[in-house]
Amino acid sequence: MITATTIAEVRRRCDETRGAGGLVGLVPTMGSFHDGHRSLMRAARADTDLVVVSLFVNPTQFGAGEDLAGYPRDPDGDRAAASGEGVDVLFVPSADEMYPGEPRTTVHVDEVTDRLCGASRPHHFDGVATVVTKLFAIVGPCRAYFGRKDAQQVAVIRRLVADLNLAVEVVSCPLVREPDGLARSSRNAFLTPTDRAAATVLWRALSAAADAVAGGERDGAALQALVTSVIDAEPRVRLDYAELVDAHTMQPASRVDGMVVLAVAAFVGRARLIDNLTVTAIGAEADTDLGVVLEEQTA
Ligand code: PAJ
Repeated sequence: MITATTIAEVRRRCDETRGAGGLVGLVPTMGSFHDGHRSLMRAARADTDLVVVSLFVNPTQFGAGEDLAGYPRDPDGDRAAASGEGVDVLFVPSADEMYPGEPRTTVHVDEVTDRLCGASRPHHFDGVATVVTKLFAIVGPCRAYFGRKDAQQVAVIRRLVADLNLAVEVVSCPLVREPDGLARSSRNAFLTPTDRAAATVLWRALSAAADAVAGGERDGAALQALVTSVIDAEPRVRLDYAELVDAHTMQPASRVDGMVVLAVAAFVGRARLIDNLTVTAIGAEADTDLGVVLEEQTA
C-alpha cells in the first residue's frame, strides 16, 4: 500500500490502472477505521483492481460548535487497518491540498437534504456533497462505496451522481453493528461506559420497529411513536429525530410502502449518534434490513 498526500500522485496511479483497462474503486472516509469502514474496503477489494481509500476529516461538513477539532484520529491504526484489508492507495491530503483557496463553488443537493440530519446540521450535506464530488474528480472511480449506516448520505450521493451524470457506480454496503447491536461509529469513542450501555437503546428501538413491521404494522406515525417511546424510556439518551422517510427522496412517508427508512438520531453524552432500519415493502410482503451484527470476539 502506498500513502499519497498529493492529488497529482493519486491521479497518476488511477490513470495507470484505467489506462491498462482496470477498475478503480474509491472508499471515502474520515478515518479512525472500524469494522464499518473495513467492510467497505473489503467490498471494494473484492470487485475492483485499484482500491483507493481517502482519509480526510473534511472541515466543511462540520458546523460551528461541532466536533471537528475533537474528531477521533488514529493515523497509525488506520494505515495498519487499510493495509490489512489490501488497500492499494491511502489518500491522506492536507486541508490545503483539498482547499488551497477560499472555494466559490458548492455542490448543493436540494430536497434530499432538507430533513433529518440536513435539518439538524445545516450545511452539513453541502460539505459532504462538495468533498465527495471533488474526490470523484480526483480519483475518477468506476465504483464508490458508502455504508447504509448513513442512509441520507447514500441518498444524497446517488442523487448528485444522477443529476450531474457522473460516471461512477454508487455501491451501498450493509450497516455494521457491535455484538450488542450498537451501530459501529468513530463517535462511539466519545461514550463513557455508562453511556455506551445506554446507547444500545437505538438498536432496541429499531429492532422493536422491525418486529412491528414483521407483525404487519405499516403506519408511519405508529412506528415513529414506538421508536420514540423506547428511546424516551432511557434517561441518558435525548432523541433528536425519529422519522419514516422515502429511501430515495428522504421525504416523509406516511406508510411503509416501497423502500423506506426509519431514521433516528440521538444525543448520548458528548456524542450525537445516528442509526436506521430500511424496509422494502411490496404488496403485503415487507423485508426489514437492520444490517449485520458482528459476533463477539472470543480471543
Ligand atoms: P465516515 O464517517 O468516516 O464514514 C466513511 C464511510 O463508512 C461512510 O460511507 C459511512 O457510511 C461508512 N460507515 C460508517 N460506519 C459504518 C457502519 N457502522 N456500517 C457500515 N458503514 C459504515 O461518511 C463520512 O465519513 C464522510 O461524510 C465522507 C463520505 C467521507 C465525506 O467526508
